[in-house]
Amino acid sequence: MIVNDRIVAYINSLDNGNSDICNSIEKQARADNIPIIRKEMGSLLKVLLRLKQPKRILEVGTAVGYSSILMSENMPKGCTITTIEKYEKRIPVAKSNFELAGVTDKITLIEGDAIEEMQKLEGEYDFIFMDAAKGQYINFLPEVMRLLSVGGLLISDNVLQEGDIVESRYAVVRRNRTIHTRMRDYLYTLTHMEELETSIVPIGDGITLSVRVK
Ligand SMILES: C[S@@+](CC[C@H](N)C(=O)[O-])C[C@H]1O[C@@H](n2cnc3c(N)ncnc32)[C@H](O)[C@@H]1O
Repeated sequence: MIVNDRIVAYINSLDNGNSDICNSIEKQARADNIPIIRKEMGSLLKVLLRLKQPKRILEVGTAVGYSSILMSENMPKGCTITTIEKYEKRIPVAKSNFELAGVTDKITLIEGDAIEEMQKLEGEYDFIFMDAAKGQYINFLPEVMRLLSVGGLLISDNVLQEGDIVESRYAVVRRNRTIHTRMRDYLYTLTHMEELETSIVPIGDGITLSVRVK
């Protein structure tokens, strides 16, 4: 937890919730320990969608479709979402949730590994939400940059490793060291690329907001 628990609880106590279908998918996902965006990330996404008014959204990491459905309810008319998931147990659940929510005309689920699947995508996306394996973000970046339009927004979730990111590599438990090194590399790259203007925001487990400036 990188933000004081009481502050998070207070902020979340002010959350008005979402549609019934979103609330019920969220409840089930949390009960089943499926990793989905935190409440405060959901409310930030909603604001960013209202501000940015995207036309094409790409999400990397669908899980059971919660954040896709939330985005679909808060994006402008005519906007579409492409979301990629590789874990075969989650794919049918996401498909069934998209049916239940009545959003199959707005959301396309691509089954497979994000690196391979992104290579097949064409056209530009003006809103990319990266929410998959943290250790792979740096490997996703070349394809993400190929797909991100100038003026487009890249949001990357879970970038501060529950605060471990500020520790030395050797202070981090061994199994998290590779992710630690790769995430530091990713954050350094995002903040030093001349094509991007990036802010690291300590909300949830830490996110980055990057706007493509050239
Ligand atoms: C944090 S969950 C996504 C949660 C979802 N965005 C939500 O909030 O409802 C991350 C998902 O990314 C998937 N994932 C991880 N690495 C991936 C990859 N290389 N390609 C496609 N999916 C991947 C995992 O299987 C997992 O379901």
